[in-house]
Amino acid sequence: MNITVQKTNSPKAKPENEEGLGFGKIFTDHMFIMDYSVEKGWYDARIVPYGPLELDPSVSVLHYGQAVFEGLKAYRTPQGDIQLFRPEKNMERINLSNERLCIPPVDVDFCVKAIKTFVDIERDWVPHSEGTSLYLRPFIFATDPFLGVHPSYTYKFIIIASPSGQYYPEGINPVKIWVESKYVRAVRGGTGFSKTGGNYAASLKAQKEAEEVSYTQVLWLDGVERKYIEEVGTMNVFFVIDDEIITPALQGSILPGITRMSVIELLRSQGKKVTERAITVEEVYLAHEQGKLSEVFGTGTAAVISPVGELNWNGKKIIINGNQTGPIAKQTYHYLTGIQNGKIEDKFNWTQKV
Ligand code: COI
Repeated sequence: MNITVQKTNSPKAKPENEEGLGFGKIFTDHMFIMDYSVEKGWYDARIVPYGPLELDPSVSVLHYGQAVFEGLKAYRTPQGDIQLFRPEKNMERINLSNERLCIPPVDVDFCVKAIKTFVDIERDWVPHSEGTSLYLRPFIFATDPFLGVHPSYTYKFIIIASPSGQYYPEGINPVKIWVESKYVRAVRGGTGFSKTGGNYAASLKAQKEAEEVSYTQVLWLDGVERKYIEEVGTMNVFFVIDDEIITPALQGSILPGITRMSVIELLRSQGKKVTERAITVEEVYLAHEQGKLSEVFGTGTAAVISPVGELNWNGKKIIINGNQTGPIAKQTYHYLTGIQNGKIEDKFNWTQKV
């Protein structure tokens, strides 16, 4: 399929102050769109000026939430090249989400080509400063104008882009996390492993209540026994106990993070012991009591590597590593972002030039 390009006649000014970018607040000049119908499959791939969409008020996504999304970044290297980090993994994962949400699959290679074509057109929007990138948000949603509860027959796939800095205002400094015992995010058999808006909608109340008591995000426990650790609001989570780096195993209710996968591969390549297994919040608290819990950190595309300095579980607070970023989080942040930004040799072949 060809991608047609219609450039904007009124390009916006690029942000001057890259320090104040924040996350996902401003958008570039264009967007990628393609449509789906049962008869045509995915068709009419196009890059057009960024702008509002016109939708019938009855489109099923607005009522039943049949939608999925992804998040990945384009980075500027010191040589001025633009590169992506494992984009095919995002498109493989969108198909995993699609399958669960009854959305037709996309062609991974075509979508990677679409991302590259789009980023190439927006390359001047990739910011230059340390810790910044062009955040890309591919998403798919159901467009049938029909109020029956049924998978849609028509869809739109869109990619938008936002020059962004740190997701958390804390940056690489430790965040405070509320261990959530009242609300649950997902259960096995549900949609927890897929990147669908409903998972995030379900998380908002807990997130709001955590913020009200000055916690940055919540740590979700399993939906049945409320004892096994799952993930943090926008990231997967790792615990360093003695010489073992533990992260909850993927068992259906946890997002299979691409940063999670990369961090596991990276740490193992350094000879570190990384275990994917069930871990209870009691085990973490006990390890802390025994002085064996040296670090907790989260991983995610938006969050990158984010150390956790404090946990609060039913009013019991623990401070991790004196509320300082620990050595494993620090080195992993340095190594991973170094590969992503083209400052460290990419022995893994994870990056792709645009
Ligand atoms: C990402 O890390 O790209 C995410 O999708 C998290 C997002 C919900 C902010």
